[in-house]
Amino acid sequence: MSALEAARELFTGSFGARPDGVWSAPGRVNLIGEHTDYNEGFVLPFAIPHRTFAAAALNGTDEIRVRSTFADDRVVVPVADLGGIFPTPAGAAPAVPEWSAYVLGVAWALWMLQPDAPAPGVDIAIASDVPVGAGLSSSAAIEGAVASALNDLWELDLDPVALARVGRRAENEAVGAPTGIMDQMSSMLGRPDAATFIDCRSLETRSVPTGFASAGLDVLVIDTQVRHAHATGGYRERRASCERGAELLGIRSLRDASVADLPRAEELMDDVTLRRVRHIVTENQRVLDTVAALQSRGPRAIGDLLVASHASMRDDFEISVPELDTAVDTALANGAIGARMTGGGFGGAAIALVAHADVGSVTGAVTREFADAGFAAAHIFTVTPSEGPRRDA
Ligand code: GLA
Repeated sequence: MSALEAARELFTGSFGARPDGVWSAPGRVNLIGEHTDYNEGFVLPFAIPHRTFAAAALNGTDEIRVRSTFADDRVVVPVADLGGIFPTPAGAAPAVPEWSAYVLGVAWALWMLQPDAPAPGVDIAIASDVPVGAGLSSSAAIEGAVASALNDLWELDLDPVALARVGRRAENEAVGAPTGIMDQMSSMLGRPDAATFIDCRSLETRSVPTGFASAGLDVLVIDTQVRHAHATGGYRERRASCERGAELLGIRSLRDASVADLPRAEELMDDVTLRRVRHIVTENQRVLDTVAALQSRGPRAIGDLLVASHASMRDDFEISVPELDTAVDTALANGAIGARMTGGGFGGAAIALVAHADVGSVTGAVTREFADAGFAAAHIFTVTPSEGPRRDA
């Protein structure tokens, strides 16, 4: 059964009626530009064909009732109570089951935009084919699908960037994950055959054609099955290091530093902070270089930039894990044009840019190498840049 049908069926089974509609939004891979978003820098992600579906309807009550295929429970909250539940206090777990905080957090963040407007009760059922915890933004896909559904049902008429901001607010303040805005923006602005260049300071975007298909290239996702969570640990720590680096340089954010500032940074900070700063500063430049290379020379010219990005995350930002390094190294040794881990790190997925004819051999080689290393089997599949949110039914 497709995820679309699963959402519809769950809705009917849970709420005893047909939904008014089904809305969906995609996950993403990031082509390049990692951990630069919360430093007000540049990113170049694209939306993938994997999507999350929200079947939804106004229910004639003043409650939001939520179900999902991720959990057995049904969560019911009066709309008027959302303001008492969120924001989740820093460091605490949400007061509702975590899976439902993505959905209810979006309702809350939308409601907060116009607290005096009516926000009638809704029923929502969620199903998804975006792998969870793989670094493919399953959470932004939920937020995007729910924001799109409520935008229509509550007749809010918000544009995709406004809905991306709502999703990010839900993620930061309801779920409590201190992430940037890349995932929500890439989900909401996805276009077939194009990546989205995002200036994470101004939120200006530009659609950059990737030309993968016409160049005979595929993007392979190698999901290592090593699961991460961004609400805790390493992600938060990296973010703090970046803020400290910016403070020591006397700038608002690392967006305001360039490669020319690195010698000065070396004098001002300890080795670890310096390496975190160096990753961000060089990564921002690599994003700009990748956009320029795609536009002037095409996708076969971006391989070295992807490889340099991975090395920087492995050695300077230290967010890779052995499974990701093995995936990248093996893909490159077997003919990939470029490869790098994608997303927040500490697990999740790598991407490899591979000529169509080499997909089978790269997949086979990574599969064998993972088995030899004693790793869990990787889940390997191709993705194409795909469209953003839509109403499916
Ligand atoms: C996660 C976060 C994003 C971004 C990436 C790293 O996906 O949700 O905001 O910081 O990690 O680039």
